[in-house]
Amino acid sequence: MANKRIDDATGVETVGHEWDGIEELNNPLPRWWLWTFYACIVFAIGYCVVYPAIPMVKSATAGTFGWTSRGALATEMKAADASRAGLRAAIAATSVEQLGADPKLLRAAIEGGRAAFKVNCVQCHGAGAAGAKGYPNLNDDDWLWGGDIATIHQTLEHGVRQPGDDATRMSQMPAFGRDGILTAAQVQDVVSHVRVISGQEKPSASAQRGAKIFAENCVVCHGANGEGNRMVGAPKLSDAIWLYGGDRATLTETVTNARYGVMPAWGARLDPVTVKMLAAYVHSLGGGEATLAPAPQAAPAPAAAAAPQAK
Ligand code: HEC
Ligand code: HEC
Repeated sequence: MANKRIDDATGVETVGHEWDGIEELNNPLPRWWLWTFYACIVFAIGYCVVYPAIPMVKSATAGTFGWTSRGALATEMKAADASRAGLRAAIAATSVEQLGADPKLLRAAIEGGRAAFKVNCVQCHGAGAAGAKGYPNLNDDDWLWGGDIATIHQTLEHGVRQPGDDATRMSQMPAFGRDGILTAAQVQDVVSHVRVISGQEKPSASAQRGAKIFAENCVVCHGANGEGNRMVGAPKLSDAIWLYGGDRATLTETVTNARYGVMPAWGARLDPVTVKMLAAYVHSLGGGEATLAPAPQAAPAPAAAAAPQAK
């Protein structure tokens, strides 16, 4: 154009346009910028061709790769299912006592148990398994029926005082007052004794009479010193941990009418792998006891059968 000239101040050529005395310098975009820009356009076109990109009425253009985010999710889910199925199969093939031998498997079982506990157990045992009146705390080492993993598993599988399950944990404390085995005064005396052995009261004449009643009526289940008996799920009475309560009124109620704590048999409600996971979780809570020397007739056979499959 005719009006092109070299600008005095900058030494750059103008493009030749002029608006009311204002002129434009000819400063083209840098090469590198332009080429990057062209490359982006080429990439975008390529992307639109191979991937779904352009919105249509029902979905987007398919793209020559046939990739969809939904398809990618389905693949991921299938992979996750497959890995979980592998874990579940490994847990199924491992006896509950042997779970601890494989730390990775044990960890997976505990995590699975934690999830199942939230769904099935918190309504009675409380969040964090802290327990409530009538529902034992599962975090401590005070066990009614036993705290090694196989025993916990057995308790879960068959429940407690669950009708219709032959292997359920069964026992019934007599209703000493209601059934007229002890008079109201005798109940008070034996309650005094229980409060003495649990360190809540000083020895008294009432407690002394109660000790004799205790020896005659209670030691068969609760033990000579109130130490409890896991064979019948009889709680330890000489500690500060109470299933129902250690105050006089609650003890009177317990001895007068007895309790009959019931827990469902989870073996009938949940699949075997989930029950194993729950046993591993409960065992991991803090009070879990080491598996005692296995009873020779029972343990070695399943352990030997499970070991090769677990690998
Ligand atoms: C309907 C209420 C209820 C639900 C739900 C429940 N439990 Fe229990 N559970 C009980 C009662 C009651 C006892 C104590 C029974 C007794 O007196 O021996 C108990 C006892 C136990 C024991 C034995 C504790 C010991 O000291 O020996 C374990 C372990 C246990 N529950 C675990 C579980 C797990 C795991 C779940 C979930 C799968 C669960 N419970 C769900 C009511 C329940
Ligand atoms: C046949 C066995 C048996 C006999 C006998 C028995 N108990 Fe029990 N006792 C149990 C069982 C089992 C429990 C658990 C309660 C439940 O959930 O049913 C229990 C629970 C208790 C509790 C509640 C403890 C707590 O932590 O809240 C007290 C207290 C108690 N018994 C006192 C006595 C006294 C006192 C006698 C004797 C007069 C006695 N028991 C006789 C089996 C027995």
